[in-house]
Amino acid sequence: MDSIRIIGGKQLKGRIHISGAKNAALPLLACCLLTDETLTLGNVPHLADIITMSNLLGKLGVDISLNGTSGAGRVMELKAATLASTTAPYDLVRQMRASILVLGPLLARANEAKVSLPGGCAIGSRPVDLHIAALQKLGAVITLDNGYINAHAPNGLKGAEITFPMVTVTGTENIMMAATLAKGETTIVNAAREPEVVDLAHCLVAMGAQIEGIGSDRLRITGKDKLHAAKHSVVPDRIEAGTFAMAAAITDGELELIGAKMEHLNSVAAILAEAGIGMAETAEGLMVRRIDGLNGTDVMTEPYPGVPTDLQAQMMALMCVANGASMITETIFENRFMHVPELKRMGANITVHDSSALVRGVPLLTGAEVMATDLRASVSLALAGLAARGETTLNRIYHLDRGYERLEEKLAACGADIERVKAAA
Ligand code: EPZ
Repeated sequence: MDSIRIIGGKQLKGRIHISGAKNAALPLLACCLLTDETLTLGNVPHLADIITMSNLLGKLGVDISLNGTSGAGRVMELKAATLASTTAPYDLVRQMRASILVLGPLLARANEAKVSLPGGCAIGSRPVDLHIAALQKLGAVITLDNGYINAHAPNGLKGAEITFPMVTVTGTENIMMAATLAKGETTIVNAAREPEVVDLAHCLVAMGAQIEGIGSDRLRITGKDKLHAAKHSVVPDRIEAGTFAMAAAITDGELELIGAKMEHLNSVAAILAEAGIGMAETAEGLMVRRIDGLNGTDVMTEPYPGVPTDLQAQMMALMCVANGASMITETIFENRFMHVPELKRMGANITVHDSSALVRGVPLLTGAEVMATDLRASVSLALAGLAARGETTLNRIYHLDRGYERLEEKLAACGADIERVKAAA
C-alpha cells in the first residue's frame, strides 16, 4: 500500500485551488437516476469515492462519460435512459456507505430498490433507520433480508410530512430526491442545511423539481411526473478548504484558498479567530494566516451551520501545538477520536473522556510512523506531520484518496516537504 512521507517544519505559502465537494458530488451523481435524460456535472473532483459511485451507477445501467482534467475542468455526463438493475450490491456498498444515496432515486424512478445495508465504519455504526422510516412514510414497503434493504412502491411514492428526530445529511438528501417524483407534496421537518444539501436542491430544481425552503430546516417538495436534463457545477469543498486553512495555521504560513466561500465556513472562521488565525475574503477565495499566535480554544461539532464534524480531527491536530488547552467535543458520531492515539504517538497531550477530548498544547510534535483509520483522521495526521520535527510516514493512505484530490501535490506546491511513496510492486 502507498504511503505519504512528510518532513515537517516548512511554512506553507501560496495558493491552493479548492476542488468540488465530495459530499455534494456523491448525491449529485445519484440524482441522475431520477431522469432518462442527460445530467451534466462540472467541477467533479477526482476521488476514489467518485469512482466507486460511478461504478455502482454503471451497474444500474447509467451511461457515464468523463472529460477534462481534474479541478474545474472535469465534466461528467450521466444518462440513465433505462435501468439495467435496481440492486446496489454488497461488494460496492461496503466500499462506500454513501451508496445508500441510490435508494431514494431508484424507488422514485422504478418503484423498487434492493440496496445492501451499509455496514458501520471506523467512526460509528452509521445506521440508516431514519432513511428507511422516512421512505416508508412516503409509501414504500421495506423489508430487511439477508443484509439487504428490499424496498417496493407498487403504486409509486406518495408525498407526506417527514420529521427527522435528528439531523441526517444523506437522510435529507435521499428523501428530497425521492420526493421530487412522488405524488403530491412532501414536507421535510428538521432537514439538514449543509451546503452540499443546498447544492443538490439547486441541481434538482434545474432538472425541473419544485423545492421550497432551500437552505432552511424545512423543505417542501411538490412531486412532478418526470425530471429533465440539466447542467450543474459542484460546489467547492468547504471541508477541503477548512483542512487547508488549518494547514496554513499549523505551519505558521499563509495560504489563499481559491474558490472557497466564507458563507460556508463562518463557524470555522469564528473558532479560528478565537485561536488567533485570520480568515479573510479575497477576490478569488479566502486568505488564511496567523494574526495573533496560535491559542487553544474550545470546539463543539454541530450540524450546519455549526462547526462540522468533518473538521474536528483537523482542528484537534492544530490545537495540539497551540498555547494553552482546548476542549474538543464531538456530538455527531460516537467514535470519531481514532486520530487521538496516533497524535499522541507524535507527542500530543490529549485526554479523552466520553465525547470530549482535552488537548494541552505542546511546543512541538515529533515525526513518527502513523496509521490512517478514516478519511478525516488521516488528514489530521498529515497536518500534524507538516508541523512536527523530523519525518512522518502516513500509512493506509487509501483513506485519504477517498476525499482529497492530489493532497500531496497541492501541499508540495506551497512549500511542504511531502511525497507519495509507491508501495513496492
Ligand atoms: C454525511 O454522512 C457525510 N457523508 C459525512 O461525511 C458527515 O460527517 C456527516 O454527514 C455529518 O455531517 C456524506 O455526505 C456522503 P448523518 P451521513 O446521517 O449522512 C445518525 C466524510 O468524512 N443517523 O448526518 O451518513 C448518525 O449515526 C463523511 O466526508 C442515524 O442514527 O451522516 C449520526 O450520529 C464522514 N440514523 C448522525 O445521525 C440514520 O438513519 C448524523 O449522521 C442516519 C443517521
